[in-house]
Amino acid sequence: MNRGKFIAFEGGDGSGKSTILEMIYDYLVSNGVKCIKTREPGGIKISEDIRSIILDTKNTEMDRKTEALLYAAARRQHLVEKVIPELNKGTIVLCDRFIYSSLAYQGYARGIDIEEISQINKFAVGEYMPDLNVLFDVSPEVGLSRINKNKDREVNRLDLEKIDFHKKVMEGYYKLVEENNDKFAIINAEKSIDEVFNEVKEIIINFIK
Ligand code: TYD
Repeated sequence: MNRGKFIAFEGGDGSGKSTILEMIYDYLVSNGVKCIKTREPGGIKISEDIRSIILDTKNTEMDRKTEALLYAAARRQHLVEKVIPELNKGTIVLCDRFIYSSLAYQGYARGIDIEEISQINKFAVGEYMPDLNVLFDVSPEVGLSRINKNKDREVNRLDLEKIDFHKKVMEGYYKLVEENNDKFAIINAEKSIDEVFNEVKEIIINFIK
């Protein structure tokens, strides 16, 4: 059986990627595509437990390297327990965030050396890189205003970072796109939900056929 395709959704906070991921998943399933949706950090019990430690707003003393290692640990377990077995069954795996989140957030935004973040993540994922990363491009101002409007969304430790942090995240993503151009599709995520959905849908349909 052919290996499935591994597609990561990337972007800053409030970029709308999680909403669009749900819509794409529903669309693919209703069109008979074998597909799962999952998220990072999380996706399975151990990684969801790690997630609650990382994102707990009370954990203000967390060191940035500890944070980076916890994301990588959650990534490893999720990959081994869920993503790889599904890819081996030929499934399309839609994952809300993956390795480029660590490079953008822990590397460019927190200021840890990119090589070091790369190394701990290589240790965690081995050869399993996403086949495609869809980057939801939204200015931090728009992203944060969306988060603030959405009263149902639980505020996490990274949401509490100042706008400068979120600017560095996006600048980091742009650098990563420059260096890994063939691995990214970039979407202007400031458009309406319907427009963004249609664009992402076209990209994914073409990619998996
Ligand atoms: P989440 O509520 O899932 O945010 P979003 O809906 O924006 O994806 O929280 C995940 C947070 O963790 C988000 O602020 C990005 C951050 N993160 C990292 O800093 N590094 C990582 O490797 C990953 C996967 C996420």
